[in-house]
Order: sequence, then C-alpha cells, then structure tokens
Amino acid sequence: MARAHRRSVSEAGPALGVLCSGQGTNLQALISAGRSGRLGARIAVVISDRADAHALRRARRAGLPAVFVDPKTSASREAFDRRLLEVLAAHRVRLVCLAGFMRILSPVFVRRYPGRILNIHPALLPAFPGARALRDVLVWGARVTGVTVHLVDERVDHGPILLQEAVAIGPRETEASLLRRVHRVEHRLYPRAVALLASGRVRVDGRRVIFR
Ligand code: GRF
Repeated sequence: MARAHRRSVSEAGPALGVLCSGQGTNLQALISAGRSGRLGARIAVVISDRADAHALRRARRAGLPAVFVDPKTSASREAFDRRLLEVLAAHRVRLVCLAGFMRILSPVFVRRYPGRILNIHPALLPAFPGARALRDVLVWGARVTGVTVHLVDERVDHGPILLQEAVAIGPRETEASLLRRVHRVEHRLYPRAVALLASGRVRVDGRRVIFR
C-alpha cells in the first residue's frame, strides 16, 4: 500500500531526463524529492557519458532506466548529442537536468529543448564559471560563493538564472569542506528549481526569470 502511494506521487508531472557523469548526489536528491512528491516531475531516464558513473548505479537502484551513451563511438559532438536526443525522445522527455554532466552540449541539443534544460553550478554565476569552480573560488580568496541553478543556453554556464543561494567561506576552508557545504545547498535548491520549471510558472524576459 505504502509502495503504491510512493509510486503515484513520484510519477506526477512532465517526464524528466537527468544527465550525469559522476557521483550523482544531485540525482539522488532529485530521486528523493520525486519519491516524496516534491519534484513536480517524473524522472523518466538517467543518461551518462561514463559507463562507471556512480550516478548510473544510483538510478538502477532506484528502478529507473539508466543508459550509458559512449562518446567514443560518435564521430562528433553533434553526433553524440543526437544520440542523447534519441534516448530522451524514446522516453518522451520534456525537461532535462544536467547534474554534474561534464560535457558541453552543442546547439543541436540545446535547440531541441529551448528553455527546458537546467544546469546546477557550484558558484555564484557569472563568477567562477567552468569545471573547477570550487578550486578557483578558493585560489581567488573569495569570502562568499554559492550555488546557481540556471537555464541552459548555447554558451557555457551562461543562461538565465532561476535560483541562487550564497555560501560563506570559512578561514580554514578546504575544497572538501566547501564541497560538502555547497552540496547541502545544491540538494535543496535543485529539486525546487525542477518543480518551478515543471509547474509552467517560469517565464523568461531577456536574462531575467519571472515566476508567475
Ligand atoms: C555538482 O557540484 C554540480 O554543481 C556540478 O557538478 C557537481 C555534480 O555532483 N555541476 P554530483 O555528481 O551531483 O554529486
């Protein structure tokens, strides 16, 4: 009975595809939010560009379709992206979440899901874009950093911002301690951002995101 209930709340809303390359702690937060009816979307498929990504194991453990798409067998970035799109289409995906996906998506991909792709970044964009944000923040000596959830456009770490939250940097902060604190914020923010987008209340006016 409890199981049937859990299933029904986790299946409400548009189909979501989650793209991951690594640990998948954000994927796990999305899975948990879905189970407790806080996601407003149904995770339809999890895709990784790495066969050994822990995220794929988390997906399988949760009973979700988990697909490895091997970049080595595609001749170009666009060809790889077309294969991703095929998998998403096969699962009738309407919204996409990048959750630690370590590849830059080509316009071929982005144009297929305009305003419907989210990314989470471990810094307050536009400060510290790129793949090594946590390290860059510490090397720079910043006192405050944070988390950004934004819509994906054709430029890296650039699209309109849905949610941001600051994280203070302590005097003896290390990359590991900062990662732990950033993750805590990410795991709270990402499901909220998905729920907002899935609700259809998000409108974009230039760079500004408005919640209706
Ligand atoms: C997160 O810190 C996210 O901000 C960045 O990649 C990391 C992924 O972590 N884009 P995980 O795989 O979700 O644990």
